[in-house]
Amino acid sequence: MSDPLDSTGKVVFLKGRKVLLRPFEETDCRQMQIWINDEDIRRNLLAFRPMSARDEREWMEKMQKMENAIPLAICTLDGELIGSTGIFKINWQHRYASTGTLIGDPERRNKGFGTDAKMHVLNYAFNVLNLHRMVTEAFEFNEPSLHYNLKCGYKVEGRLRQHYFKEGRYVDAVQLGVLREDWLPLWEEYNR
Ligand SMILES: CC(C)(COP(=O)(O)OP(=O)(O)OC[C@H]1O[C@@H](n2cnc3c(N)ncnc32)[C@H](O)[C@@H]1OP(=O)(O)O)[C@@H](O)C(=O)NCCC(=O)NCCS
Repeated sequence: MSDPLDSTGKVVFLKGRKVLLRPFEETDCRQMQIWINDEDIRRNLLAFRPMSARDEREWMEKMQKMENAIPLAICTLDGELIGSTGIFKINWQHRYASTGTLIGDPERRNKGFGTDAKMHVLNYAFNVLNLHRMVTEAFEFNEPSLHYNLKCGYKVEGRLRQHYFKEGRYVDAVQLGVLREDWLPLWEEYNR
């Protein structure tokens, strides 16, 4: 059995190869607030409003209680908070949901943390929640996001032309989706 606590004493929910995924704690609010207000991070997200510490705490509390959302903090194996992910907008009837992920510190990006987090989130979604399909969306310019989603088995399913207004211009939204059958061979390979 894997250790239920990380080295900082926080509870572990899912253990990956490179990351631990766990519920958010009150003490994560400050770091999350800093990231969500960071201009460089926000350019890749739909968030555009300034988030106060209270807004952030309320968002976490609301998400934690929602029946169709499973928010998760992403930590390194030694327990350092590096980002957030989760399963959102779960449709229990049609068995699909979406994800949204951020790795806060730019120094931590492109090191496989996002892929490891996503592969384990998909394992939980498909093999525990029995979801059938997962979807996500990225701005056309967000190459790292497009790339790591494709690596995890997502396929480009659509493109909403000039759907969002970002930094003074309209940009396309690339819509991606993955079925359990797309992801399973990659998961088997990932664990080999
Ligand atoms: C998108 C994000 C979550 C990915 O997490 P990550 O830990 O950086 O992802 P990984 O390191 O696992 O994978 C990123 C892949 O993109 C590739 N990549 C990076 N920049 C790229 C570019 N300009 N063109 C093509 N591929 C690129 C990397 O090489 C890597 O692939 P590889 O492992 O095959 O080499 C992270 O970059 C992030 O938080 N970005 C800011 C917020 C954001 O954009 N969130 C997603 C909103 S849709």
